[in-house]
Amino acid sequence: MTGEQLQKLACFPLEPNHLQACQDLDQRSLGGLWNQEQWHSELAEERRPGIGLWCEGALVAMASGWLVVDELHITVVAVDPLQRRQGLGRQVLQALLSHGQRLGAERATLEVATSNTAAVALYRDLGFRDAGIRRGYYRNGDDALIQWLRLPPVNDAQQGCG
Ligand SMILES: CC(C)(COP(=O)(O)OP(=O)(O)OC[C@H]1O[C@@H](n2cnc3c(N)ncnc32)[C@H](O)[C@@H]1OP(=O)(O)O)[C@@H](O)C(=O)NCCC(=O)NCCS
Repeated sequence: MTGEQLQKLACFPLEPNHLQACQDLDQRSLGGLWNQEQWHSELAEERRPGIGLWCEGALVAMASGWLVVDELHITVVAVDPLQRRQGLGRQVLQALLSHGQRLGAERATLEVATSNTAAVALYRDLGFRDAGIRRGYYRNGDDALIQWLRLPPVNDAQQGCG
């Protein structure tokens, strides 16, 4: 992506009509975490906020979560494999956290495979702190790292999109 394209990235909340784009990016980035029905629920339910970054009509990054009272449980963060290490993961996750704060989240949490060094580094970079390990949590036997982030009061929140 050129510098000019990076400047022109569009940031929007994910909606039901983005289903195909989300499924395609899920397939390219995560090997198909969710099927069509699961993505449909993810995009349709009000308590499941999501954010997408778009470049010239193509979805290049997305992040989504489930809001449980005042906790935002991050479920997906994915960047197009051809567009990584340009700050898109950081940008889309920050936008989701800001969006979650405006919906009442005071904390964010997630589980990530300890072997996923890129994601663990991204989350630590954004201030997530380790809170425990679930041994053998994933199907391939990988451990899951549990992380938490306390979100600042909403007035101090960075502006996200949406
Ligand atoms: C994890 C992921 C979202 C990161 O997206 P990205 O756009 O490449 O990340 P960014 O460019 O915003 O990186 C932000 C920071 O995260 C860390 N980071 C990101 N990728 C990294 C890597 N491969 N190795 C080490 N640190 C990394 C760095 O601290 C980086 O800051 P820097 O570039 O200034 O050093 C991306 O690799 C991805 O989509 N992976 C597959 C899907 C996945 O595993 N999602 C998480 C579980 S749902």
